[in-house]
Amino acid sequence: EVFSESDNASIAVAREIADLIRARAYQKKQCVLGLATGSSPIGVYKELVRLHEKENLSFRNVVTFNLDEYYPMERSDIQSYWHFMQENLFKHVDITPENIHIPDGMIELADVYSHCMQYEKMIDDHGGLDFQLLGIGRTGHVGFNEPGSNSRSLTRLITLDHLTRVDAAPAFQGMNNVPTRAITMGINTIRKAKRVVLVAWGHKKAEIVQTAVEGERTSVVPASFLQDHDNLTVLLDQEACSEL
Ligand code: GLP
Repeated sequence: EVFSESDNASIAVAREIADLIRARAYQKKQCVLGLATGSSPIGVYKELVRLHEKENLSFRNVVTFNLDEYYPMERSDIQSYWHFMQENLFKHVDITPENIHIPDGMIELADVYSHCMQYEKMIDDHGGLDFQLLGIGRTGHVGFNEPGSNSRSLTRLITLDHLTRVDAAPAFQGMNNVPTRAITMGINTIRKAKRVVLVAWGHKKAEIVQTAVEGERTSVVPASFLQDHDNLTVLLDQEACSEL
């Protein structure tokens, strides 16, 4: 779906999420959301906060699982995805802190594997993700599934691609400060979500959007593995769709 303005697209995504949260609350059920970081979903979070403040949208029944976290990374670090989520969404709404899940960027290396398996199990124990929000990186990553990630991959520690670190450098005041690794949900973790919405804005994303949407399904472009998801929508602005 192409929108003239990314703001309108973000509002549409937020309203879909809000409807889902309310529908699940009406059924007296939890709503399990897979959330993303980066600049692309910020407008979605802004609208969700507005709906909470102005239209009584409650997050009491919401459980969240974030896609990824840098490794190593302390929660309190301003570059952490923990911090990002607090600032952009969680501190503004009535979500129960115990319902928030983000991979632990400070887990001991020896415990990373079991931490990742536990993350998978927690998602499964909640009945899977009802909705997964995604951005896309210029390498074709979703979460931090860099080129080489296969379609069966699960939550794990990965090495960041050079281009991903270049793109992250301004936020870290230089390339040397960007972590070389991250913990990310896998492609399979994401593909199991009942609904997937990917958002991309601006001309810098046009080329990778074209490859991911119209190219072959390949681990060279991990986002391409979403092509056969049966409930996926890609929302773009005019610039991001210019190569389609
Ligand atoms: C990071 C995140 C991804 C995100 C990507 C794109 O690498 N791990 O989940 O999609 O950035 O970021 P942006 O939305 O800022 O372009």
